[in-house]
Amino acid sequence: MVFVRSEELLPGMCLARDIHFYEPSIASSITMKTGQKLTDMQITQLCSAKLDGAYIDTVRSEVRVISSINKQIKKEAINNIHSLADNFIDTSKGVQKRDIESVGNTTQNLIDNLSSQKDILINISDIKMYDDYTYHHCLSVAIMSIAIGMELGFTNEMLNDLGLAGLLHDIGKVAIPIEIINKPGRLTNEEFNVVKMHPVYAAKHLQERHLVNDNVYQGIVGHHEKLDGSGYPNHLKGDQIHPYARILAVADVYDALTSNRPYRIPSPPNEAIELIMGSVDTHFDERIVRAFLRKVAPFPTGAKVKLSNGETAYVMKNYPDQPLRPLVAVIGADRVYDLSFDMSCLNIVITELLDENKGNRLINM
Ligand SMILES: [Fe+2]
Repeated sequence: MVFVRSEELLPGMCLARDIHFYEPSIASSITMKTGQKLTDMQITQLCSAKLDGAYIDTVRSEVRVISSINKQIKKEAINNIHSLADNFIDTSKGVQKRDIESVGNTTQNLIDNLSSQKDILINISDIKMYDDYTYHHCLSVAIMSIAIGMELGFTNEMLNDLGLAGLLHDIGKVAIPIEIINKPGRLTNEEFNVVKMHPVYAAKHLQERHLVNDNVYQGIVGHHEKLDGSGYPNHLKGDQIHPYARILAVADVYDALTSNRPYRIPSPPNEAIELIMGSVDTHFDERIVRAFLRKVAPFPTGAKVKLSNGETAYVMKNYPDQPLRPLVAVIGADRVYDLSFDMSCLNIVITELLDENKGNRLINM
């Protein structure tokens, strides 16, 4: 049994002691019984009654990662990107104005959904329920990019352009043979040269039809450029790379590294973050990586994780400045470790995001 402060309670936590309090809005007393699993509504009641917290049974708790992005919006986003991509590869049609309008509406819905979160913590976990990697990757990158843009103080118009570029950044891949995209082994130089054309295919197609403005075009065409000039397709350096392309680059690499692909098992989020941090100034813009780290918590609240001391825990709370060191509750041991602020826990690290959470992302709003 551990005492958990009200603001850190999560749905599914199991009460280890009865709680009685007076609820003024209904002018009556409320009792929550031992063994009860807390719901969102009960947590809200406990917080508004200004209770310090509750004793929680970590063995019987069933905490889950909950997606905060509206399911319908995600479904619509995938459908809209899919139809746009179908027209993109259909040479008799090409992308139509109405395709862009639908994807544009999706972008605004994502921005509204992300802006309306009361909670500080937003995750985009069930994006992985869709089979087709390219489309859910585009959605995931768009959401992370919008979150980075928000952290950087972008206007709604800028967020719309950035989000649209995110949703469309990899559309060019549908024009590349699937055997190359999903090839398990190393690509030949010839094959890699084909892959390297995907930012150009999509961006040029949309620009020629006057369907996107220059900012969206630059975001799409430049999302594989790197600050040191080693990227593609134009080997641009530093400020030559459009800021939207620099944002998409960070989100793109993080999502690609942590996703399950035919040619690679997913990297744990901490390794993906370390890799990105290790490529600041050579590949990635430091200011953007900092904004990303404040927004994307690799271990979502409610996620089960393995600790370096062998224990299993679930994440109770994330700290924006310490994305790899959340507050965790050890399962079955009635212990809470504050990996960021408790000096006695400095030697403990999270070594693994357990299977059931793989593919989850958390965005910190
Ligand atoms: Fe790409």
